[in-house]
Amino acid sequence: MQQWWKESVVYQIWPRSFADGDGDGIGDLGGITSRLDYLATLGVDVVWLSPIYPSPQDDAGYDISDYQDIDPTFGSVEQFDALLAAVHERGMKLVMDLVVNHTSDEHPWFVESRASKGNPKRNWYWWRPAREGMNAGDPGAEPNNWGSIFSGPAWELDETTGEYYLHLFSRKQPDLNWENPEVRQAVYAMMRWWLDRGVDGFRMDVINFISKVTSLPDGHVHDGSLYGDAMPYFVDGPRIHEFIQEMHREVFAGREGLITVGEMPGVTVEEARLYTDPARRELDMVFQFEHVQVDHGETRWDPRPLRLRDLKAILGRWQAGLAKVGWNSLYWNNHDQPRVVSRFGDDGEHRVRSAKLLGTVLHLHRGTPYIYQGEELGMTNAPFASIDDFRDIQSLNHYAEAVSTGADPKAVLAALRVLSRDNARTPMQWDDTENAGFTTGTPWIAVNPNHKGINAQTELADEDSVFHHYRRLIELRHTEPAVAHGDFRMLLADHEQVYAFARRYGSTELLVLANFSGEPTTIEVPDAGRWQGAELILANYAVDATGGMRHLALRPWEARVYRVRSPLGSTKDNIVTNPS
Ligand code: NOJ
Repeated sequence: MQQWWKESVVYQIWPRSFADGDGDGIGDLGGITSRLDYLATLGVDVVWLSPIYPSPQDDAGYDISDYQDIDPTFGSVEQFDALLAAVHERGMKLVMDLVVNHTSDEHPWFVESRASKGNPKRNWYWWRPAREGMNAGDPGAEPNNWGSIFSGPAWELDETTGEYYLHLFSRKQPDLNWENPEVRQAVYAMMRWWLDRGVDGFRMDVINFISKVTSLPDGHVHDGSLYGDAMPYFVDGPRIHEFIQEMHREVFAGREGLITVGEMPGVTVEEARLYTDPARRELDMVFQFEHVQVDHGETRWDPRPLRLRDLKAILGRWQAGLAKVGWNSLYWNNHDQPRVVSRFGDDGEHRVRSAKLLGTVLHLHRGTPYIYQGEELGMTNAPFASIDDFRDIQSLNHYAEAVSTGADPKAVLAALRVLSRDNARTPMQWDDTENAGFTTGTPWIAVNPNHKGINAQTELADEDSVFHHYRRLIELRHTEPAVAHGDFRMLLADHEQVYAFARRYGSTELLVLANFSGEPTTIEVPDAGRWQGAELILANYAVDATGGMRHLALRPWEARVYRVRSPLGSTKDNIVTNPS
């Protein structure tokens, strides 16, 4: 079926923390395979695996040293094939992470590239001499002023040849030079190899960074920043659409039933439309970041309280921008984001209700929803006590840099507690035993102590749990075409407490109402007559259906989904153009 992924829900597994099959404290393929029935019960259609390739694990596997093998920590190619078959047997698809903006510095391509200036692979990466008039290694001699996304400069001096290489992420993640056609062909061949093996597509890591402005100019230094802002020179760069179209031709053309997802920090709605316009043959959908930056202040490490109106404005703009052409991913969580129930919900008294509300709001938007492991249980941020509890390179580097340049360690830690990626990376909570059923060994990062109360075993047994609410949301997408295909209309856009919108498809209309607050409120339902007699199809409280629709009282963190079906055919005809 064409565009099957519009009616699908993707589940992201971050293998290190999902399930440990061999007791070494690190999740693995055996562990994942043993938990597939859980995913089938939830009802998801696609499983996306974060990287499982050989890697020095400097950035938890996003630093790959061999694209065509499995890291022994996670298992073997045989185990991978068995996992893939088991996923397919359950009617699900498997998507791999594709990390080709950069490799590991231990990848043979880079090992060769750094060997000498004349090496045939030299031009596979971005090598530059010291800044003119300066000596390599002098402070400030880097070829330009770009900062790495993981702190420090984006350049590392390589002593062997006395030149610097570019790394937008850690120094162990050198950027590939996509200007070089040999690089592109090597990547495409590797992608075909995985597709031939039977995988169903790719989630493409920072894929809108692969085309750089080749002169690599200095970036503007914003107030308070140590480095120049390089984003204008590598986000959606000059040849990006050409590269993605070439990839499509070389890898995907003529193959059916696949899904391609571009992770794209900094992408605009207008660019996203280009990337996902089917006529342009680029990608099926993007993963954008604006809504998960809504609570950032000046920097990524400056947490601010959520302003619901801002969140609605952002998501509403994306809904409108991709309404006619293109497609978006819908997500609150992944391995790079803190847990949403702690972030936009209430992880205390109203944890269960707010987790259900967040799921409802997200899954009822237009786009393909992604569930990150544990989100379906309402897992929360972790109670990190000191910097020693963190493992993530981005968090650790930021702490070191901030403290060494004079920041108060307590304040840095406070921000990390709220925003660190490690919040997403604590082990999956399967049951209430010592290590939450994640491992029989010592977990590589501490299990959240709240697993005694929050875990899959308990939730599976409770029809009223967050898990079963997510299961119903997925089922709704599968059974109600308006969820996947309906248009989207934001309601009450200026309301500070209530998120409300309508979906419409043929003769069906859906109304979603969600009170993003621990305070009750009463709303006047816009265009209430339209919803008279509507059927309540999903809620997170028991609802007395006897009242009318004009004024609705919403309890703390209450969410409701109503449906009306017009008996006379299309609601468009009946209501919009012919209100009688
Ligand atoms: C985005 C990934 O999601 C993140 O985890 C990783 O650190 C960077 N890209 C670099 O690969």
